[in-house]
Amino acid sequence: MIKKAVIPAAGFGTRFLPVTKAQPKEMLPIIDTPTIQYVVQECVDSGIEDILIISGKGKRSIEDHFDRNFELESRIQEKEDEALYTQLRHIESMANIHFIRQKELNGLGDAIYHARFHCEHEPFAVLLGDTVIDSVIPVTQQLIDSFEQYRQTVIAVERVPWENVSRYGVVGGVNLSDRILQLNELVEKPGRKQAPSNFAIAGRYILTPEIFRALEKTPRGKGNEIQLTDALRILLKEEGIIATLIEGKRYDIGNKMDFLKTTVEFALKRKEFSVDFEAFLRETIKNIDDQKEK
Ligand code: UTP
Repeated sequence: MIKKAVIPAAGFGTRFLPVTKAQPKEMLPIIDTPTIQYVVQECVDSGIEDILIISGKGKRSIEDHFDRNFELESRIQEKEDEALYTQLRHIESMANIHFIRQKELNGLGDAIYHARFHCEHEPFAVLLGDTVIDSVIPVTQQLIDSFEQYRQTVIAVERVPWENVSRYGVVGGVNLSDRILQLNELVEKPGRKQAPSNFAIAGRYILTPEIFRALEKTPRGKGNEIQLTDALRILLKEEGIIATLIEGKRYDIGNKMDFLKTTVEFALKRKEFSVDFEAFLRETIKNIDDQKEK
């Protein structure tokens, strides 16, 4: 049973400046819901209600979002908007959320290391706070299922185009089934020729507490930061790690282009917007085509 999750959300978000200068990227809304709320919902939908968010400078609004706001609630009650009131109450009660601050931003590995006192005795899930995965079965649940079968650290991977492998951490290994690989290689941002596969690490993990020992041995790597992939590579020498090819679509809202695509795709899926928004998109494309013909 995986009962705890860690959501790293302390990063600078430099790829999304200037909005991230004084605002967490994890609070960027997909239409009307902050990204990190989708991530928390994925934990809850996977049976996890004990969540540790790694927070940091400028991230107070994440705490406020999951806190109760009595004044706002009574204003909404006065307006007799029952649905909105229920929605607000749901946010503050959806999970048991704890926060710890990463005072110096020393990388994702260092962020995870801040969870050692919370998670030292049991395996736990990790979900990047800036990554949403749309799927029928929550991806964390998919990883839990793999963990329960193989009892090893699990890394979520997705297939990416070969020309893009150099943007990701990439895994190599032997197939245990059509969706599970027993890993023998983990490479951070390899060139196309060096990449052992086109399976990229997808922002979700089940880690065993041994990761904390591996992190202690991990030297600073790329960007002078403690990289989680480097720690996993150390762990791989000591124990088995598997990768699960996830069923779902990943959206990394930490980069601007993905954020735009996410907004469009989620709007098309929302009942109250889909018809009008699709008409707007068709009209926009038609105008672009007309312009080109002139
Ligand atoms: P990223 O590498 O995407 O975050 O980390 P970043 O460093 O904020 O992004 P850029 O490259 O500057 O735009 C993935 C997740 O890990 C968290 C981030 O907040 C994000 O949710 N993270 C990253 C930490 O919590 N601490 C860190 O030191 C680094």
